Amino acid sequence: MRAFRYLAVAVLALAAAAKADEAGWWKNAVIYEIYPRSFADTNGDGMGDLNGITAHLDYLRGLGVDAIWIAPFFPSPQVDFGYDVSDYVAVDPQYGTMADFDRLVAEAGKRHIRVISDLVVNHTSDRHQWFLESRASRKNPKADWYVWRDGGWFGRPPNNWLSIFGHGAWQYDGVRRQFYYHAFYKQQPDLNWRNPEVRKAMYDVMRFWMKRGVAGFRLDAVTSLFEDPKLRDEAVGWGRAPNGDPIFSRQYTDNLPEVHDVLREMRKVTDEFPGRILIGETYLPNIEELARMYGRANDETQLPMDLQFLMTADVSVAGLRRRLGEAETRLNGNMPLLVSDNHDNQRSWDRLGDGKHNEEIARLLATLLLTPRATVLLYYGQELGMANNDPTRVEDVRDPIGRMAFPAVKGRDGERTPMPWDGTPNAGFSTGAKTWLPVGPDHAWHNVAAESRDPKSLLNYYKTLIRLRRENPALRDGGLKFVDETNPTVLSFLRQSGAATVLVALNLSGQPQTVRYDLGAAKLQTLASTYGAAAVASPTALALPAFGAYVGAVR
Ligand code: GLC
Ligand code: CA
Repeated sequence: MRAFRYLAVAVLALAAAAKADEAGWWKNAVIYEIYPRSFADTNGDGMGDLNGITAHLDYLRGLGVDAIWIAPFFPSPQVDFGYDVSDYVAVDPQYGTMADFDRLVAEAGKRHIRVISDLVVNHTSDRHQWFLESRASRKNPKADWYVWRDGGWFGRPPNNWLSIFGHGAWQYDGVRRQFYYHAFYKQQPDLNWRNPEVRKAMYDVMRFWMKRGVAGFRLDAVTSLFEDPKLRDEAVGWGRAPNGDPIFSRQYTDNLPEVHDVLREMRKVTDEFPGRILIGETYLPNIEELARMYGRANDETQLPMDLQFLMTADVSVAGLRRRLGEAETRLNGNMPLLVSDNHDNQRSWDRLGDGKHNEEIARLLATLLLTPRATVLLYYGQELGMANNDPTRVEDVRDPIGRMAFPAVKGRDGERTPMPWDGTPNAGFSTGAKTWLPVGPDHAWHNVAAESRDPKSLLNYYKTLIRLRRENPALRDGGLKFVDETNPTVLSFLRQSGAATVLVALNLSGQPQTVRYDLGAAKLQTLASTYGAAAVASPTALALPAFGAYVGAVR
């Protein structure tokens, strides 16, 4: 009887632990971003669709991802390829149906993969019903749902603000005879987040998708929610941006303090449903601002993206060491969300590659992302070493930014080309005659089929690291401590949990380097390395080839 009682207590304790674990599923997780238009096309129209994602869930499971974030798949005129939403609670027919979405969530669930939705909160499409109503007159129930202002003298815009995508941020509307503000394209009018009705409408959208099973939201452009109510002019600096615009500060249009009020409200909404999370698209200037995104009482986003760590020109050892150190120590114990690639920036293959050691650098990057104490965001194709595939003629450009000032600004098509599944002409992405963007020439060797067969491929290296960070207690739960801290070419750190210690060494130079440690250890046992299983490891001197990365257990 007594034994039985102990057993019952133990089972209950285990169940409670499992439940807590469920709530914290996103800690140390690997989240994979899918640009749905470019992942897999199942109906031959040359554009990816939701069924294409469902068809490849086993691949994602094999890779080891915990969740996918899907870029917008809602009805949209597709000016900004879905980031101009005309209906927040439906599926764009080009991507499928609501039934397809439900099936995707169910099938993903069977494979322990959660689905995170994009949420475009700052603006809607100019074809959204809300905007059509709002523009119809200055007095209607939605008149105040957007940022409307009278113009200045002689039809001039209300102030000097510029759009993030280029040129003026105010668009004159002939019906309402006022200007509306747009932080992005003119077809993306900004919502007025000072209006409680707008907030409520968006929170109801969140509830709608959580009821359908989404595990959370990636909050698009969330730092742009508010603008200075006094409409003060931004300061203009010297020089010009590549698109000809003046250099411009954003103190009155970006990251205003009220953003945090909204984040706290949104967090309350997601907390209505267990295990749901908020990921922030948070381009911020420093670690203090990033720390604030978690909330002073950890009551804002769980995972604001750290876009300072790797989306920067400074990839020196000192710079990376400092920024990784900040992410580990200055986010109040919260989980950093590390990211190197997304649908808005040149792929790391080209951005970080030197043209000669790109394969090595891609493996080095994988190690740098997947071995610290952090949640990691991967972008589709990154695990294959997918290259940017920029348009070479202006008539081929699809992203409007790229048409404004081509070729100085090529736009974002290059990082959005179809996922290479195999080496056939359409890369196994589509059976159609034409794909919406061309398949990159590198798909002949960087593709899922070829890399799955090759044990030395980048894909298999990603799989190894993802498995390790799940299974190895030091990589899973351990703290991070730098060693050999002044080394100008090799970044080294230890992960430590209980008796388990793992050493990570990253040679960021194009020359071989030998690193000497005093770890007081007898033995290093290789767990993974970018230069083959034959890595010679000694606890006192580790020889790393150019751009080599080493992960080993210290015994
Ligand atoms: C975010 C998205 C980007 C989009 C913009 C406007 O930055 O990532 O793709 O164009 O917001 O919605
Ligand atoms: Ca399709």
